[in-house]
Amino acid sequence: MRKRIIMLPGDGVGAEIMKSAKKVLDAVAGEHHHEFVFHEHAIGGDAIDRFGTPLPDETVTACNNADAVMLGAVGGPKWDSMPGEKRPEKGLLGIRKNLGLFANLRPVQGFSTLVHSSPLKTEIVDGCDIMIVRELTGGLYFGTPSERRDGGETVVDTLKYKREEIERIVEKGFETAKLRSGRLTSVDKANVLESSRMWREIVDQKAEHYPEVTVEHQLVDAAAMKLITNPQSFDVIVTENLFGDILSDEASVLTGSLGMLPSASIRGDGVGLYEPVHGSAPDIAGTDAANPLGMILSASMMLRYSFGMAEEADEIERAVSETLDRGFHTADLDVKGGTRAGTQEMAEKVIENLSTKSISNAICSSYM
Ligand code: IPM
Ligand code: MG
Repeated sequence: MRKRIIMLPGDGVGAEIMKSAKKVLDAVAGEHHHEFVFHEHAIGGDAIDRFGTPLPDETVTACNNADAVMLGAVGGPKWDSMPGEKRPEKGLLGIRKNLGLFANLRPVQGFSTLVHSSPLKTEIVDGCDIMIVRELTGGLYFGTPSERRDGGETVVDTLKYKREEIERIVEKGFETAKLRSGRLTSVDKANVLESSRMWREIVDQKAEHYPEVTVEHQLVDAAAMKLITNPQSFDVIVTENLFGDILSDEASVLTGSLGMLPSASIRGDGVGLYEPVHGSAPDIAGTDAANPLGMILSASMMLRYSFGMAEEADEIERAVSETLDRGFHTADLDVKGGTRAGTQEMAEKVIENLSTKSISNAICSSYM
């Protein structure tokens, strides 16, 4: 298959992790006789520096004509004092909105080799396998433009959702739960927010169409607590944009490192944007110390969700597990003994393990 992939490395460690994921994709393409054609474009702080805007039109056009988009990370202290419209993050929010990528899938998967590096007790995190389905193009992130009024004494951010926007993400939550264990937790703040009360109504209506899925409502504060006291009680979590942002960072500590976590932002027709959950880590940029596995696993999600290449995606996930099982780890992973590898070397180890085809001992394997 021939696929056109847009790479948006962005800021900080973005370029390094993108380079390592591209190597892995090139190796997979070679083995399976695919042709992946890559084009690189600017986003975030890098785009501000070079083009004066975090999301150049040319980047949007290229993404609109692509089969899939890969993104490294955006942001950094260099641009922190920029006005809201000129911040690197605007580029990321803009491309999500422009492409209509309303569903953000964030799997939180433990690897047996890393389970002890979680700050939580092994018995609490062992076997945890959660999929967070986060709404990505509505809510507080995209209300009427935020503003300061009364000479700066009042500030306004608005939380707005249309019924159809809630319906489509809730459906995605049910569909995801149906493909996994059939358990769905809908997270809201219905004791305070009207938007959450509408969210809850819609979840209850949709539940009637999914008799095979057991759904439970949880308030976001309680869910945040339960996520670290009893993570095994969750399978699929569906929630709105801001709650999903916060809960997915919280959930990432379960696995031992934020550097491991991939994400897919999709809309239903195959086109998607794939990025690691972690940020641009400007403090280690350019030092070959970043963990590329979140980006590599995001590339694997791209093969699965955008290209329908399940076998190739499985192969990458297996190779990542094996690389960890063989003791290779980047500096962020607290692995006793083993061999510390740089960003590029870690990718090369994954490539070496691609063709070994043995079943790994990852605790959980489901990226569905
Ligand atoms: C994420 C990030 C972004 C978000 C930022 C960089 C705008 O935290 O993808 O989770 O809040 O969505
Ligand atoms: Mg976030």
